[in-house]
Amino acid sequence: MALLVVRGLRVRYPGAQEDALRGVDLELAPGEFVCVLGPSGAGKSTLIRCINRLVEPASGQIIWDGHDAMRLKGAHLLAYRRQIGMIFQEFHLVDRLPVLANVLMGRFGYVSPWQAAIGRYGPQEVAWARQALARVGLAGYELRRARDLSGGQRQRVAIARALVQRPRLMLGDEPVSNLDPVTARAIMALLAEINRRDGLTMLINLHSVDLARAFATRVIGLSRGQVAFDGPPSRVDRSVLEQVYGTAG
Ligand SMILES: Nc1ncnc2c1ncn2[C@@H]1O[C@H](COP(=O)(O)OP(=O)(O)O)[C@@H](O)[C@H]1O
Ligand SMILES: [Mg+2]
Repeated sequence: MALLVVRGLRVRYPGAQEDALRGVDLELAPGEFVCVLGPSGAGKSTLIRCINRLVEPASGQIIWDGHDAMRLKGAHLLAYRRQIGMIFQEFHLVDRLPVLANVLMGRFGYVSPWQAAIGRYGPQEVAWARQALARVGLAGYELRRARDLSGGQRQRVAIARALVQRPRLMLGDEPVSNLDPVTARAIMALLAEINRRDGLTMLINLHSVDLARAFATRVIGLSRGQVAFDGPPSRVDRSVLEQVYGTAG
């Protein structure tokens, strides 16, 4: 069964003249590594925000594991979001806090609000956080301040924070756009390794066609709020790029 089904998703932001998404259909099977390409403004970020229920679509369906995710509220919405890890272009770490504290924030949805507020996590949570840091190649960095790390290391911390959620889906909104090309490739390789070893399904927005070709098991091209291409990376050729980006490239 599909992990996630998106049907007829239509989004219009308040005050906008046009829809940001104009009927997007998409099915994700468990274990896929999907990269979403498309020019600025195509709707890549909006798609991710809809899936995570941060933006309310005007119409359409989001079905998670066979259940309607659009109706979820309160504790059910929290439980849904726990299953979805997020990584961002800007990392979204708390710079003044140590790396370990940042990773533990991934457990936020699991502990009680007062525990989270006073930063009280149990030994099991701390053990998981340390394991996640080792997994992303940052064993020994637990007590370093986030602000003292390089961009690539900061994104690794953010990936560890998402992993301690024990997610079933990882959403990435251009997670390598702020990194130099060598570091960007290393982070994509890490995500691909996690995808293969853990079977963690990935939906990653990307700026770079080359990285999508190198790491995705499937590429989706968004153009002006619509799916203009959906297929294997081997089929992403010049004419597909013209369809998606609207130029000869
Ligand atoms: N918060 C917002 N309010 C109004 N319009 C928005 C907002 N966010 C995005 N948009 C518009 O929605 C469209 C899709 O944007 P976005 O999803 O950010 O595209 P992408 O991530 O592919 O660059 C664009 O036309 C953009 O200007
Ligand atoms: Mg975006």
